[in-house]
Amino acid sequence: MAVIRFVESQELIEGTENVANYLESQGIIYENWDISRLQGELKDSYEVTPELQQAIIDVFGEEIKALSAKRGYQSQDIVVLSKQTPGIEDLLVKFVEEHHHTEDEVRFIVDGEGIFTIKGPKDDMYFDVILYPGDLISVPAYTRHWFTLTDLRKVKAIRIFESKDGWVAVYDESLIPADKAKVL
Ligand SMILES: [Fe+2]
Repeated sequence: MAVIRFVESQELIEGTENVANYLESQGIIYENWDISRLQGELKDSYEVTPELQQAIIDVFGEEIKALSAKRGYQSQDIVVLSKQTPGIEDLLVKFVEEHHHTEDEVRFIVDGEGIFTIKGPKDDMYFDVILYPGDLISVPAYTRHWFTLTDLRKVKAIRIFESKDGWVAVYDESLIPADKAKVL
């Protein structure tokens, strides 16, 4: 279950309900899907063949369909990061640069752990969302954030896209159009 940690105070918000409520207050979608349905290599393997990718996505087909219908998402794939990923430490240095996207960034944690640090769209207060297996987050378009791994140094996640081509990192905050600067 995800945990929220405020960057400045290190204060925590724990418990699915509390986490979901706080994220909702910031205009961020959070869901927790039943991960116990995923067993064996679907859960454990970090060598994701196209067949394995499809099998994992199929397990959560209903949830993905419902969310996609609600938010207009079009496609999905699986990303894996681990100590075996070539250049992982360099990649992580790149990932911690604050940025936004013009589309939602949606991640469902299949295995491992990940941390999104988000500049709260409502109050500009920075907080970490520490994600564990079963957690889904949709970081809204134009919301400033960055991503990193925990000390576990591995994550396997489903990415869900509005359109794959449009999903690029924009590092310059001044490029956020005035009417998109706040979601609330
Ligand atoms: Fe991002």
